[in-house]
Amino acid sequence: MKYGYFDDKNREYVIERPRSLTLTGYAEFTNHSNYEQDQVNLQYSLFIGRTLFAGNRVVQQVHGNLDALPPEEQVDGKIVTERFFGLSGAPVAAYCGDKASFLGGYRSYGNPIGVERGMENELSYNENACGALSCVLTLEPGESRTVAFLLGEKYAEEAEALLSQYENSAETVAQELSALKEDWEGRLSALQVQTPDPAFNSMLNTWNAYNCYMTFIWSRAASFIYCGLRNGYGYRDTVQDIQGVIHLVPEMAAEKLRFMLTAQVDNGGGLPLVKFTHNPGHEDTPDDASYVQETGHPAYRADDALWLFPTVYKYLTETGNTAFLDEVLPFANHGEASVYEHLKRAIQFSLDHLGPHGLPAGLYADWNDCLRLGVQGESSFVAMQFYYALVIQKRLADWKGDADYSAALSAQTETYSRRIQQLCWDGDRFIRGFTEKGERIGAAADPEANLWLNPQSWSVISTLADHAQAERSMEQVHARLNTPYGAELMDPPYHAHAFDGALAVIYNPGVKENAGIFSQSQGWLILAEALLGHGERAFEYFLENAPAAQNDRAEVRVLEPYCYGQFTEGRNSPHFGRSHVHWLTGTASTVMVGCVEGILGLRPDLGGLRLEPAVPGSWKEFTMDKCFRGKKLHIRVENPEGRQSGFHGLWLNGEALSAPYLPSELLKEENEVLLRM
Ligand code: NOJ
Repeated sequence: MKYGYFDDKNREYVIERPRSLTLTGYAEFTNHSNYEQDQVNLQYSLFIGRTLFAGNRVVQQVHGNLDALPPEEQVDGKIVTERFFGLSGAPVAAYCGDKASFLGGYRSYGNPIGVERGMENELSYNENACGALSCVLTLEPGESRTVAFLLGEKYAEEAEALLSQYENSAETVAQELSALKEDWEGRLSALQVQTPDPAFNSMLNTWNAYNCYMTFIWSRAASFIYCGLRNGYGYRDTVQDIQGVIHLVPEMAAEKLRFMLTAQVDNGGGLPLVKFTHNPGHEDTPDDASYVQETGHPAYRADDALWLFPTVYKYLTETGNTAFLDEVLPFANHGEASVYEHLKRAIQFSLDHLGPHGLPAGLYADWNDCLRLGVQGESSFVAMQFYYALVIQKRLADWKGDADYSAALSAQTETYSRRIQQLCWDGDRFIRGFTEKGERIGAAADPEANLWLNPQSWSVISTLADHAQAERSMEQVHARLNTPYGAELMDPPYHAHAFDGALAVIYNPGVKENAGIFSQSQGWLILAEALLGHGERAFEYFLENAPAAQNDRAEVRVLEPYCYGQFTEGRNSPHFGRSHVHWLTGTASTVMVGCVEGILGLRPDLGGLRLEPAVPGSWKEFTMDKCFRGKKLHIRVENPEGRQSGFHGLWLNGEALSAPYLPSELLKEENEVLLRM
């Protein structure tokens, strides 16, 4: 019998005969639904579980012994839970419900004995459970078959019904897969770009956006690597994470933003930790011992509520929904007020907590968890955030015609600009702040940590730095802090000269806040360079830390090539370039904002959309398809002279405009936009 032929084109022998294939699917069940209990309380969680085989599925029962209870009855709040791992589209040939039996002694996921030698229908009773099922398919040459493995938490009747839907699985699976793809494409479609750089396109269009969604949904609350089982949302983290999805799903973002506004105390400060059970209007606050005891947060933090300003502003300007400012929302403890008033109180909170130099006091911490300047300490980063808050609030006051308040804000903007300049500019850099004992941190003469990244980038973002300062300090960053993997958070790391409160010293040098490349700050750096019109440098900073641009050094980076991490080890580590703490990280949103508002220059304001890209000179042309306030924009950018930034003409539907700005009232449903740099 002849089984094959030689394929001349591909120079290979093609075997044509029926094949018998064993397909194995595998999933692990947790023993307990509470994943902390599952890790630490094995003397309990192992002994409530067992697995059964039910024809087309492995069923895991948690508290299976309670199956004799009448409906609605519980023992100690517990009932039987059932999870299943099932197969549809082919009969089950063998199964296994016990993880150790499936893997085999001294083996791992790379060579499970259940695959290598086949499964022997073992079940679990007091061991770590799994679902593993195999089927044998015989395929004729050229034939294909589809089977479906399903995982769920359902009782028998519903599990059966679900599995039967996939009996002739090919079509159903194809339909579901395409529905899933459509759903994601829909979520990502609000901004799609085609630039000459494939890594940028893939990050911005898909992977960074997906990373932003993940972080937006889960905050930092669902990660073994992060904090284990956190008991709530971190205020500043969550408010920042919202920024990453505003241009994609503004209304979803607004819901979370409302939620976070209701976690602001009536004194204007944010609750450092917002409990999952958050009950607006009825929460205790850091002023109450009960809050401190329950959350472990001893006090307010200086920056929490200040993150509201850029986030609220992004939402208002992306959507044009200025009515949002008048929405009335409760405070965390008691009372309610409009969003505009919530913002006023956030400013008042900083004014009510000034340190000895008249800058916002550090309270428990600023963005940097490892920098404890003391309750009366003063952080230049927070001072710049506060300054930026005043700038944004003034724009909102002007929009609302709130003239007296606007005038007061103008005066405060001047006062704080002068004060921050006098206190924090150190000739070629902005310092990091003052401890409550009066020590200056981050000055040029300090033996350690004498140059910090965030005050330099934030001096630009907040609009505080003048042009010469911005150029000078950002140049320092490039010369002193930048590396092929991104810029370090400060330099040199703390070792022998840490002040009391420089908690970073607890980490190895080159790690996390102790001179690691803290990737969240890389996003601010991209934005700051782009705002200065330095397209080459902004893009250099993007590439250094972009997962998609690191596939030629994947062994060094180690982290998955499609998601951002919290930090990369810096030059002082023997593992320079290795990255950590994937997925749930503030990096996702800051890099997204750096790319969208910075490199692509898509900067909405209350009246419309500013277009000011800052790109590498080699980008001679690129396109952006963007939804803006319900309208579609098809933007083509031409850059024949190879500039990094700058404006040479803008045409909206064929009509020339005099500035790189699209007033929202000129937009039609579909718009062709040509920008020449
Ligand atoms: C991670 C924390 O979740 C975040 O709140 C903080 O800003 C950064 N670390 C920097 O310390």
